[in-house]
Amino acid sequence: SPTREFVTGLPKAELHLHLEGTLEPDLKLELARRNGIELAQSTVEEVQASYVFDSLASFLAVYYPAMDVLVTEQDFYDLATAYVRRAAADGVTHVEMFFDPQAHTSRGVPFADVVNGYHRAAVDGAALGVDAHLILCFLRDFSAESAAETLEASVPFADKILGVGLDSDERENPPSKFGAVFARARELGYRLTMHCDIDQVGSIENIRQVLEDIGVDRIDHGTNVVEDPALVEVVRERGLGLTCCPVSNSFVTDDMKATEIAQLLRAGVKVTVNSDDPAYFGGYVAENYVALVEKAGLTSEEVVTLAKNSFEASWVSDADRARFL
Ligand code: HPA
Ligand code: ZN
Repeated sequence: SPTREFVTGLPKAELHLHLEGTLEPDLKLELARRNGIELAQSTVEEVQASYVFDSLASFLAVYYPAMDVLVTEQDFYDLATAYVRRAAADGVTHVEMFFDPQAHTSRGVPFADVVNGYHRAAVDGAALGVDAHLILCFLRDFSAESAAETLEASVPFADKILGVGLDSDERENPPSKFGAVFARARELGYRLTMHCDIDQVGSIENIRQVLEDIGVDRIDHGTNVVEDPALVEVVRERGLGLTCCPVSNSFVTDDMKATEIAQLLRAGVKVTVNSDDPAYFGGYVAENYVALVEKAGLTSEEVVTLAKNSFEASWVSDADRARFL
């Protein structure tokens, strides 16, 4: 069966990665020191011990407060650079990275500092062998008005942003709440994706909405589309990527969803494997491939298909990608 070395040696794209979810304990402590922020923890072990959760809601309750240490443009640069370096070590040559501007602008951090810091790191990724891009995510538990304001704030930076996504707490925040915002985002030339998480009540209805009402270019997670064979056929036939995150699944539910992911892969759906929030879930992308291989018994050929899918589901042209393959 395919080894970790085999997985690492394959060029891969990562398409479901939250930059704020790459905040490792040592960097969190360093940024707190740099910015004079008092933390409840003072050692890496103590920060690690605070990263505890068993559901999406309890994860988010740890995740957002941790971001308080991100203040200056340099902080955002340092965070993204650390991730790109780590991804390169796993054989990632292309990455489309989510960021949550509202988690920072709501604390008084200027939008420009967030985007410029992250974008500078994306540009410098080329020197590390990584073609890096940004996807702006709206927080779905904030209002549609707040998302619309954030979208307009992004316009002067549109050349630094590939697309828009939707994350955070899905309960009572269905895709339809953001229909107008996403229609406007498409008009502005952005690609569209949305999280349809696996442990959320009504999630299959949300998958229906992203396919039929929003018209997304990709779905983040979306694994439980398996519940509805007709929707699986829509996803397969449109060649839409699903950005699955096995290790994350095992934290926010009690199951990696390996059976479902393998079933979709074998049905010809453009399944991809990603790390989501690796600093919190303890596995970067190669770890996610290995975990899935072991749990679902994937062959080397299937692993190659996953890596190939990751490029096919990405949003950058073949010409751009060719420079990194
Ligand atoms: N789901 C919802 N919100 C998130 C996630 C996720 O997987 N990761 C970071 N914010
Ligand atoms: Zn996610």
